[in-house]
Amino acid sequence: MLKNLCLKTPRKKAEFIRKKLFALGILDHKRKIVSDAKNVYLPIKNSKTTEAKKFGRLTEKRTKTQKREPRSIATLLRHKLTKRELALLKSSYDSFGEVVVVEVPKGLVKKEKMIGQAFLNLHKKLRAVFKKTGPVTGDYRTRKLKRIAGTGGSETTYKEHGCTFQFDLTKVFFSPRLATERDIIARQVKPKEVVVDMFAGAGPFSILIAKKQPLVKKIYAIDLNPDAVRYLKLNSLLNKVGEKIEAISGDAPSIINKKLNGTADRVIMNLPRSPKNYLPTALKALKKKGVLHYYTFCSTEEEVRQRIGESLRGKTFRIRSIRNVKPYSPEEYCFAADIYISKK
Ligand SMILES: C[S@@+](CC[C@H](N)C(=O)[O-])C[C@H]1O[C@@H](n2cnc3c(N)ncnc32)[C@H](O)[C@@H]1O
Repeated sequence: MLKNLCLKTPRKKAEFIRKKLFALGILDHKRKIVSDAKNVYLPIKNSKTTEAKKFGRLTEKRTKTQKREPRSIATLLRHKLTKRELALLKSSYDSFGEVVVVEVPKGLVKKEKMIGQAFLNLHKKLRAVFKKTGPVTGDYRTRKLKRIAGTGGSETTYKEHGCTFQFDLTKVFFSPRLATERDIIARQVKPKEVVVDMFAGAGPFSILIAKKQPLVKKIYAIDLNPDAVRYLKLNSLLNKVGEKIEAISGDAPSIINKKLNGTADRVIMNLPRSPKNYLPTALKALKKKGVLHYYTFCSTEEEVRQRIGESLRGKTFRIRSIRNVKPYSPEEYCFAADIYISKK
């Protein structure tokens, strides 16, 4: 530890003086601030001692070097990867609590362990880093992952808008990029409403709604994937909303036809891959008047309007809003539309 000239200041004044010294370029931010019961010792740049004396008495103190954390993976790897490799690095990744999921481009596969380790070094609370090994596929909309650093499996606990979700990243669909969208929907739900979440997954829409609108009457949360329903039930309990949510395992159209015809004030259709196939059943689930939250992959807002117009031809409806939720492919985005429906 080095001895450093520090400005001795009473604890009460320390924050005010620190800000002043910082603003005037007097504070040596490469050294750590030290303190005792009464005083704080602010490290001073050697070249600024005259200016510093105006604020109080200078004294010598042992101070540690301030370790400045690198702010990005690229910074951390700048001496380990070539310029070409650095250009390939993806800056975005999905964070799920103690686990992150990254994309490793083909040209970086040989460096994937190093990249994974860099994430662990940058984010000290991370347990594991997984890479995507394929696209989201199948009816359950899941994807395969491979652990490239850290320990343990792909089950994680993730927090969003004050709710806790537990799930296995390889067994159920879950996208943190939909967090804002879920909040937008939950804020629209009114007391006494009945909601049908047709493609509920591990429950992020249903659970946030139940939390944000505790006066909701009932939420029927359906999913075809038994693992999703298992986590949905667990997450309802974790978030203490089990009484409001009925988790149902199975095919949404069959379940709606069997027991949910004309029951819903609001239907969430979060299956953007094929909304058209499910629209007739979603309409069946609605009461005479209701709201449909429709998701689709399209290139433009105009295309979304056109698609909805064609699918709902002959029906009385009004599109209240359309949102571009997230990119899906180089040419397409996931769009959300809030549609107000009146049935004859
Ligand atoms: C895009 S994910 C959305 C999950 C969830 N809403 C979320 O935001 O995380 C679509 C979900 O629909 C489910 N699914 C697909 N076809 C279904 C069907 N016919 N009936 C019910 N659920 C279905 C899948 O298992 C998957 O969990």
